[in-house]
Amino acid sequence: MPNLSVRIGKLKLKNPVMVASGTFGYAEEFRDFMDLRKLGAIVTKTITLKPRQGNPPPRTCETPAGMLNSIGLENPGLEVFIKEKLPVLKKTGVPVIVSIASESDPREFITLARRLDKIKAVAAIELNISCPNLQHTKLISQDAKETYNLVSQVRKVTQKILITKLSPNVTNIAPIALAAQNAGSDAVSLINTLTAMSIDVDKRKLKIALGIAGLSGPAIRPVAVRMVWEAAQKIRIPIIGMGGIIDASSALEFILAGATAVSVGTANFINPKVSIEIIEGLKKYLSENKIKDIKILIGSLRI
Ligand SMILES: Cc1cc2nc3c(=O)[nH]c(=O)nc-3n(C[C@H](O)[C@H](O)[C@H](O)COP(=O)(O)O)c2cc1C
Repeated sequence: MPNLSVRIGKLKLKNPVMVASGTFGYAEEFRDFMDLRKLGAIVTKTITLKPRQGNPPPRTCETPAGMLNSIGLENPGLEVFIKEKLPVLKKTGVPVIVSIASESDPREFITLARRLDKIKAVAAIELNISCPNLQHTKLISQDAKETYNLVSQVRKVTQKILITKLSPNVTNIAPIALAAQNAGSDAVSLINTLTAMSIDVDKRKLKIALGIAGLSGPAIRPVAVRMVWEAAQKIRIPIIGMGGIIDASSALEFILAGATAVSVGTANFINPKVSIEIIEGLKKYLSENKIKDIKILIGSLRI
């Protein structure tokens, strides 16, 4: 049996396949469809300090080979998450990576991280500094200095494994990934969604109420693979790659480009069991190619 285990900092995952923030809720909706225990890790829907209703509808639509979303971080807030969602997640026995964001004041990241730091069921914290749906003029992850400042401040208040989630809406991803690493991030996740727009020509109206939204799904995969590769040339911390992963082959593209682990997002909406199928597919690929350990493949692409 090939070895699929990987490490994200101190965190050991039995396999490199996780589910991406915002596409798997808090796992409750998925437990009837699949054996959650098989997942490498679960990344929760981003939470904020206070509950949020999110953006007005319509806030999702289909696009060629993908979808647009402008959910706007709808979530029940930190305390309800801890009381009601975390116990269910804990029962799965799978590492729980809690995604957090601030609404307007970046200091909220500190408050959130401080509180989560004390909770054993939290395996890692993912800093979502790349949500394109909050009507901010600029994202923290669009600036290397701001990324460095935010990550280093959070680093001071928590011993938990820190993962920084980056935006593809930048000219050059490598300096931002490097800033996260230099500030003490244990890993980076990339990519979040690409800003995009879609128009209904019959109604001559926007398909998403607020106009600009985030594009995800297979349409963005080549962009995501390119960015993982570019970041991998510059940093030594693990990369969690995502963007349009739908099967083992697409997961392998990311691993060959330099990702230590992968996250499955939009594909969960089409097939809730897809991540389990990807794990099986990775095992098969390794066996067929007589590769004993998936780590041999990480960043093994030579150009
Ligand atoms: C409906 C929807 C909601 C999302 N919500 C979040 C979120 O709350 N936090 C976050 O970091 N990313 C969020 N994302 C981005 C995904 O985690 C992922 O980075 C992105 O969709 C690319 O992967 P994919 O093409 O496999 O979906 C969301 C994506 C979708 C489609």
